[in-house]
Amino acid sequence: MSDSMKAKIESPTGKLGVLCPGLGAVATTFIGGVEAVSKGLAKPIGSLTQMGTIRLGKRTDDRSPKIKEFIELAGLGDLCFGGWDVFHDDCYQSAVNCKVLDRELLDEIRPALEQIKPMPAVFDHRYVKKLKGDTSNVKDGRNLMAKAEALMKDMDVFADKNKADRLVVVWCGSTEAYLAEKPVHKDLVAFENGLKENDPDIAPSMVYAYAAIKKGIPFANGAPNLTVEIPALLELADKTNTPVSGKDFKTGQTLMKTIIAPGLKARMLGISGWFSTNILGNRDGEVLDDPESFKTKEKSKLGVLDYILQPEKYPDLYRDLYHKVRINYYPPRGDAKEGWDNLDIFGWLGYPMQIKIDFLCRDSILAAPIVLDVALFSDFAKRAGLKGIQEWLSFYFKSPITAPGLYPEHDLFIQLKKLKNTLRYLMGEDLITHLGREYYDPR
Ligand SMILES: NC(=O)c1ccc[n+]([C@@H]2O[C@H](COP(=O)([O-])OP(=O)(O)OC[C@H]3O[C@@H](n4cnc5c(N)ncnc54)[C@H](O)[C@@H]3O)[C@@H](O)[C@H]2O)c1
Repeated sequence: MSDSMKAKIESPTGKLGVLCPGLGAVATTFIGGVEAVSKGLAKPIGSLTQMGTIRLGKRTDDRSPKIKEFIELAGLGDLCFGGWDVFHDDCYQSAVNCKVLDRELLDEIRPALEQIKPMPAVFDHRYVKKLKGDTSNVKDGRNLMAKAEALMKDMDVFADKNKADRLVVVWCGSTEAYLAEKPVHKDLVAFENGLKENDPDIAPSMVYAYAAIKKGIPFANGAPNLTVEIPALLELADKTNTPVSGKDFKTGQTLMKTIIAPGLKARMLGISGWFSTNILGNRDGEVLDDPESFKTKEKSKLGVLDYILQPEKYPDLYRDLYHKVRINYYPPRGDAKEGWDNLDIFGWLGYPMQIKIDFLCRDSILAAPIVLDVALFSDFAKRAGLKGIQEWLSFYFKSPITAPGLYPEHDLFIQLKKLKNTLRYLMGEDLITHLGREYYDPR
């Protein structure tokens, strides 16, 4: 008997609006990239929704359609973009400032990017201390509830103006100062009172999440902020049938960690130390130079190894692992980050070995296809009637949100299997377990 169901999935007719709070390096590289791909100027490398395939049935069946042909996803030509930022620069100017995409490429898509002007942001300097310059593109309002209502109005106006039939919101804003769960987050009543009373424990990203979820618009969190991962907003997501996901896009060094650590563990090789250091010079790096914002990022980056390696189950291999993560702001590199990893590992009889990784990566080039995939899959989730935490999207996140009490799955390959099996399940196809007995024992 098949474990699958054929869900009723609405077709993606009309346009899908993708709204990003934060029109900085990641958001402009995503938007500019989609415009470039749509014009045939480049390929969507790194995007599973655009390039990935999915095997259906037996290996001998030879059925491996592209994911975007297997499930109905919004087409790139059907996307329109908007967002909010504290800076006044339009999407073209912001992309020029961020220096990720070449000027030549940007000039080919300039008219489309210039039309995207940031709507005034909901902002609070206490949560992001290091932003410099004219940060006056912000909303006034008597309290946070009024600001949330203003955001909902922005969403309506954007949808009307762009003739968008559906919307998704993906947080691409700066990393906010570390915030632990507080009483105001515990349920929806407390949270809505907190919005009216300007509770200082409600971060701006939570106001965006509230506004989107209240309207039933899928919300994904690309930063390590607490944001949507609080009982109040999960309660709202349940009530309004809204898919949510996060947090912190899995790019660069953590992507490498979740590729390499499962491999070492699979071979029962021990690890005594993993020292990771980064230099980066973009605005994200500058924001992370503030200890409060760094603390949020550090927590997100550190959790990964513990969950993958399970030291409590493998004390001889991982109990004494010393794991350290450093991020240093170094302006000359801009968005071209360099991440070094030194791994002290040990093998048979405890003999030590070392692995060195020097990843000269481009942060936003790795993040942009994730924004695209998360936006398209979030819209698909909504059309398929899914709501609440979308753990099958943990493939894209450093610190995946899970149901309370459930530990997150960090192994990239398990995450990919979970994602693809979710698609098979929703489409009524057999799940793939890789057991493979049928090829040898056809009875
Ligand atoms: N680049 C990557 O590979 C990567 C990976 C994982 C996570 N992230 C996270 O994604 C986020 C964006 O990264 P980036 O490199 O684009 O940073 P960025 O500094 O270039 O852009 C962030 C933008 O958010 C704006 N912003 C801050 N608070 C806001 C608010 N309340 N409302 C609206 N706009 C606001 C800032 O003005 C800025 O323009 C960061 O939180 C970063 O940590 C990035």
